Amino acid sequence: MVSSSATGGYRIVTALDGEGPLPRAGQFYMIAAEQGWGGGGERPFLPRAFSVADASAVADGVRLSFLLEDVGPGTHELARLRAGNGLLLTGPLGRPFSAPAELNDSAAGAIIVGGGIGLAPLALLRRELAGGGVPERSLLGFRDREHSGGLELFRCSEVRLASEDGHAGHRGYVTDLLAVMLEGDGADTAVVYACGPPAMLEAVRGLCERRGVEAELAMESPMACGYGACFGCAMPLRSGGYMRLCVDGPVVRAADLETALVEGAGHR
Ligand SMILES: Cc1cc2nc3c(=O)[nH]c(=O)nc-3n(C[C@H](O)[C@H](O)[C@H](O)COP(=O)(O)OP(=O)(O)OC[C@H]3O[C@@H](n4cnc5c(N)ncnc54)[C@H](O)[C@@H]3O)c2cc1C
Ligand code: FES
Repeated sequence: MVSSSATGGYRIVTALDGEGPLPRAGQFYMIAAEQGWGGGGERPFLPRAFSVADASAVADGVRLSFLLEDVGPGTHELARLRAGNGLLLTGPLGRPFSAPAELNDSAAGAIIVGGGIGLAPLALLRRELAGGGVPERSLLGFRDREHSGGLELFRCSEVRLASEDGHAGHRGYVTDLLAVMLEGDGADTAVVYACGPPAMLEAVRGLCERRGVEAELAMESPMACGYGACFGCAMPLRSGGYMRLCVDGPVVRAADLETALVEGAGHR
């Protein structure tokens, strides 16, 4: 059974997973609506992948929230869900974000960088870091008002914003804010966590590489199964060969990639 609400140009869908377990930030679920999925032989046929944006243990299971952008038939069906409709969930799947000390043993804090709908996994990450006493600074960027929302999932007032149309915060890219932050105090002991469109992730990857800062990127690719069986989510590695993003990711060490600009890899 779900509840659903609008947040800017996106929607938050909340559902109860009666069995759990509690997911970690960066993990995802394969999701389909119980009704109207593949009906009449029309798309969507397969479940769709969504990062978990919030999770809490409750008496009858785990309450999960997802932030979604309506971009096609599957997300359209999910955006139409209303209170009481059923949701089919498989998860949690994939590799979560690492703790800062796993990326850099002298890490003193974290910088979170989100773009558009990419803020979803970072909202849960921010709360995990805050719960563990890790100092974090959050930078979120949006293309325009229609492609923004979900800030309430961050439950934090200390978020610095950027928008390409200037409707909120710095007019420009969120990576402009990151570039300034990486020049400042303590940048060499920070670790960066990012999720967003491929062009933003590539800018984050390049900035961190040039500054010698460890980073993890939550990536997207088309996913048919979500558990390693179909190889539809293959992503090239810097060392040669491929990973399956659904089982070896979706959180990837930036240093393992030659580029984050991979064909078919996620939102604009
Ligand atoms: C690990 C993972 C986590 C994700 N988390 C979220 C999330 O938290 N919120 C959210 O809204 N979306 C998320 N996505 C993207 C989401 O799965 C796609 O938007 C969705 O599958 C599109 O399905 P559709 O039937 O609506 O559109 P489709 O008809 O399948 O696609 C419509 C258009 O959307 C784009 N698209 C297709 N597949 C993807 C994809 N995998 N990623 C991005 N764009 C795509 C393409 O431009 C395509 O032409 C995630 C994807 C992955 C792999
Ligand atoms: S989505 Fe099937 S192997 Fe990754």
